[in-house]
Amino acid sequence: MPVWKIAIDGPAASGKSTVARLVATRLGGFYVSTGDLYRAVSWVALERGLDVANDPAAVTALLATLDLRYGVAGPGRLQLYLNGEPVAPEPLRSAAVAAVVSLVARLPAVRAWLCDRQRDCCALGTVVMEGRDIGTVILPDAPFKFFLTASPEERARRRLAQPGEVPPGSTVASVAAQIAERDRIDSSRAVAPLRAAADAATLVTDGMTPEAIAEHIVRAVLAGGQP
Ligand code: DC
Repeated sequence: MPVWKIAIDGPAASGKSTVARLVATRLGGFYVSTGDLYRAVSWVALERGLDVANDPAAVTALLATLDLRYGVAGPGRLQLYLNGEPVAPEPLRSAAVAAVVSLVARLPAVRAWLCDRQRDCCALGTVVMEGRDIGTVILPDAPFKFFLTASPEERARRRLAQPGEVPPGSTVASVAAQIAERDRIDSSRAVAPLRAAADAATLVTDGMTPEAIAEHIVRAVLAGGQP
């Protein structure tokens, strides 16, 4: 059984997670959402009443109290654990977390702390790791790197179709503006900004189904031969 390391990066709501899941299933590997790690730190920070926007030192200090890791929960399935307890997915996708996660993700101490936690996942076997800096920083030697993108309107439509993450009354225009702001913060931060690795294949996914995008990636990986 070949072991593949596949990096999928791209901006918010570009379809990365659905596609990465499909690719992982097709190749018999683990799907790793690195955004959920940043979301989990953000969620705990909010739970503990920290002022995430104005008190980065408190968020940094919080890290010393956290044991955050992915564990194998079943065939091909990872579960995120926080201090030994499984983390439920719903709070991570709440509007409250979505509103602060890019502020947490721009803190260098948080990124450094999460770096090894992400790399550790490669010990599990084939991984399809999805995020913003996987091809550039976390797995720079991954033999397969993809950068998915789509227009802000297409991404807003996709996000609106996902329950939970957008506040009630949201429109394509309001969600597109929110996404553009998150992209701005993610792309302009000093450490590990959102950008395609020089050796990544960029896929513009407007009008493509997740299945078609996944098929494209699987074919490219299989055509690339045994890693
Ligand atoms: O992919 P997502 O929407 O779950 O990501 C949530 C936030 O975390 C988003 O603001 C970007 C940030 N992030 C990051 O900076 N680096 C990663 N590798 C993954 C996510």
